[in-house]
Amino acid sequence: MQLEQLKIHQFRSLETTELQFSPCLNLVYGNNASGKTSLLEAIYFLGRGKSFRMQTSAPLIQQGQTSFHLHGRLSNPISKSSFSIGFHKVGAELLVKLGGERVKKLSEVAKLIPFQVISSDSHKLLEDGPDVRRRFLDWGLFHVEPQYHSDSKNYIHSLKQRNAALKAKRPKKECNIWLEKMEECGTRLNETRSTYLADLVKVINNLHETLALEEKSLGFKLLTGWNQEFPNLRDYWEAQYPQDYFHGFTGGGPHRADLLIYFGERKAKEHISRGQQKLFAILLLVSQVIQVCKQTNKTPILIIDDITAELDQTRVQCLLDLLADLPIQIFISAINPIELNLSKWRDKKLFHVEQGKLKEVV
Ligand SMILES: Nc1ncnc2c1ncn2[C@@H]1O[C@H](COP(=O)(O)OP(=O)(O)OP(=O)(O)O)[C@@H](O)[C@H]1O
Ligand SMILES: [Mg+2]
Repeated sequence: MQLEQLKIHQFRSLETTELQFSPCLNLVYGNNASGKTSLLEAIYFLGRGKSFRMQTSAPLIQQGQTSFHLHGRLSNPISKSSFSIGFHKVGAELLVKLGGERVKKLSEVAKLIPFQVISSDSHKLLEDGPDVRRRFLDWGLFHVEPQYHSDSKNYIHSLKQRNAALKAKRPKKECNIWLEKMEECGTRLNETRSTYLADLVKVINNLHETLALEEKSLGFKLLTGWNQEFPNLRDYWEAQYPQDYFHGFTGGGPHRADLLIYFGERKAKEHISRGQQKLFAILLLVSQVIQVCKQTNKTPILIIDDITAELDQTRVQCLLDLLADLPIQIFISAINPIELNLSKWRDKKLFHVEQGKLKEVV
């Protein structure tokens, strides 16, 4: 997918504007607090109906205003089709239109436009708890495996019902009635995750070798979230029932899965620097973008906020050169573009932003 055009009105500090983008690289630059991240947020909003910086959308409405409006034109270079997308946020309400038609579920938009974001929070992929890595895997699986989204929703729905019954100390039969659906969907979630990861690891290792920045190799292990000595999930949950009843929630299962990441022989989380964390997070996120390109007819859009943060010039340049070879549209922000050598990019556009005023640099 490619974003050809974007109209912005009353979004954060940005002045009302209409921009035409390059299908390859778009670089926005400017001083601190000029509006770089705000532009990337507006672009991301088109695919997800939310910011990548925060959960709530109210702070995105320009101060002193009561609404914002975003309107984009997207095209699919593979199917050669194009459509418009509009978001109108008025107070607490969000109106979404796809090709002029009202859309009720944001997942319909998310499916169509795979946005991947690399931001100042990306190092958390290695540093934080398991849920951030589950969300990482979920992003790719959502786009690659058609059934994953509904399995995931059904599993979580049944899990919540069971947890409510456990918390209310309902009889065993009432608590365990949900196990059938949980096992059916949970087993599939687990199998799909491990197949997907096996393919993804090949892409990650390939990129790691191409970048040739670190000597040690990366290793990955999927923790399923429950004791593997049990032949199936049902037997495991039956055996765990006394503990689950005592605690008032389902302790183990695919909702507790994690991805262990090794650097050489050691756990990456405990042995790498902040810059390495950022570099490896980028490696993982970019690999997923490549994987989605390979396994679907979707072409993701990659957003990188402040590409130079935490990385030295060699690493930034290696990354840029690597990104230039990908068949995707990329939006990057930086404070100073002079530090970046963009000669490998066949098609690019630069935008300067100053106090919310965006201007294409020609
Ligand atoms: N709802 C809003 N209305 C008006 N201004 C806002 C709103 N939300 C944020 N701002 C302001 O917009 C300005 C630009 O913020 P933004 O995060 O886009 O800057 P940036 O160029 O990414 O800066 P940095 O280089 O520090 O990351 C900031 O001064 C911020 O306070
Ligand atoms: Mg910023």
